[in-house]
Amino acid sequence: MRALFEYRYLSSIIDKAMNRGYVDIVLGLQWGDEGKGRVVHYLSRDYELVVRFQGGANAGHTVYINGEKYVLHLVPTGILHNGVKVAIGPGVVLDPEVLSEEIQFLRGAGIDVDGRLFIDPRTPIVFPFHKREDALFEEKGGIGSTKRGIAPAYRDLYQRFAVRVGDILDESQLDKMVRKQLEFNNIILRHFGERELNVSDVKDWVLSYKNIIEPAILDVSLLIREHVLQGKRVLLEGAQGTLLDIFFGNYPYVTSSHTIAGGALVGAGFGKDVIRRVYGVFKAYVTRVGKGPFPTELKDDTGEEIASKGEEFGATTGRKRRVGWLDIPLLKYAIWISGVTHPVMTKLDVLEGFREVKLAVSYRLDGEFYDMITPASLSLERVEPVYESYGPFEGIKNAESRDAFGEGVKEYIKRIENLIEMPISSISKGKENDLI
Ligand code: IMO
Ligand code: MG
Repeated sequence: MRALFEYRYLSSIIDKAMNRGYVDIVLGLQWGDEGKGRVVHYLSRDYELVVRFQGGANAGHTVYINGEKYVLHLVPTGILHNGVKVAIGPGVVLDPEVLSEEIQFLRGAGIDVDGRLFIDPRTPIVFPFHKREDALFEEKGGIGSTKRGIAPAYRDLYQRFAVRVGDILDESQLDKMVRKQLEFNNIILRHFGERELNVSDVKDWVLSYKNIIEPAILDVSLLIREHVLQGKRVLLEGAQGTLLDIFFGNYPYVTSSHTIAGGALVGAGFGKDVIRRVYGVFKAYVTRVGKGPFPTELKDDTGEEIASKGEEFGATTGRKRRVGWLDIPLLKYAIWISGVTHPVMTKLDVLEGFREVKLAVSYRLDGEFYDMITPASLSLERVEPVYESYGPFEGIKNAESRDAFGEGVKEYIKRIENLIEMPISSISKGKENDLI
């Protein structure tokens, strides 16, 4: 381990000496809620700009500072460090209502937002009718969405009639797009027996947020470019997780955006050559909110105990999260899909005190073994995890370094590193302390 730390220390000195600007990406390797907010907060003090590139207010990124809890859904977590700028890229869907609430919340907490928050003009807007439709589709048997209007907003974008942030600057363009968007959305509302909307009400609604959105409008791709050219560091803040990716998650139990590293390039607008690191965040166990297959799910007292010790309730919807053992076939897949260079394990402290912790090292299906969730045809509903046991889990919370972990914990970590074929770059073992 020591050699690894020395290597990381040296490489960061070299980067600084050469004054190279770069982009690092943080993303989730499971089903969301991996602790991305906590990791981004920890890292972002070393960056000049933090950018969200996908998803919307379905995210719930939680950070604790001096015992105070901050939950952000839309504004990038970097805002919590004074001196760090933040941006919302065109791959995000922007709910002006949530944006306005968060700006107020941040100001109330003494955090200055003016001149520090930028929004790309190409970012599609989430309207109240999107949230209503999301809820209506859920009632008809959805997949357990957060009802934040995410899928309907992306649908309208791909249908090519979304109102986007820049449209609010041009009355005739806004009028044209709202008309087109409502023509379609009114068909849906009518279908569900809901009241149809008129163009002027919808325009008035979005224009009521013009005063907070307009000053923030800026080309985010160019903003990133400027930073990189000036030798500055940019951190991309992913939302949701790999297994919720629209292409590579368990369709249809997914969100409607690209949650993987490729999504950062697509959703913020930069090329691969400026990327330095890809941080992949995973919990020491697994959770999932909403419906869909979950091979290592625990439906017993152990699951309840992890859920309660880990405070596993959704930061966005308050829903109870499903809990299971760490799943290596899933993790290896996520690391591959995003080209993760720095795996980060979170919430290891939650497992403190457990006599036995299980680790799913492979899946069995119809007499065959799989060490990664490929091929694509592999049915996650039918696989049977093959477990190894580790424990007891001791010496985590008070450890200043990994050397202080109990033997059972050390073996668990060593085995994971061996299976994913790379070292775990950082481990979090509490809400606020440094990663080790
Ligand atoms: P963060 O960024 C966990 C899940 C929902 C549902 C599915 C689709 O905090 O990790 P959507 O509202 O996106 O259409 O719902 O995705 N989901 C999340 N689960 N963490 C999140 O975000 C999530 N965002 C969406 O529960 O299963
Ligand atoms: Mg969350």
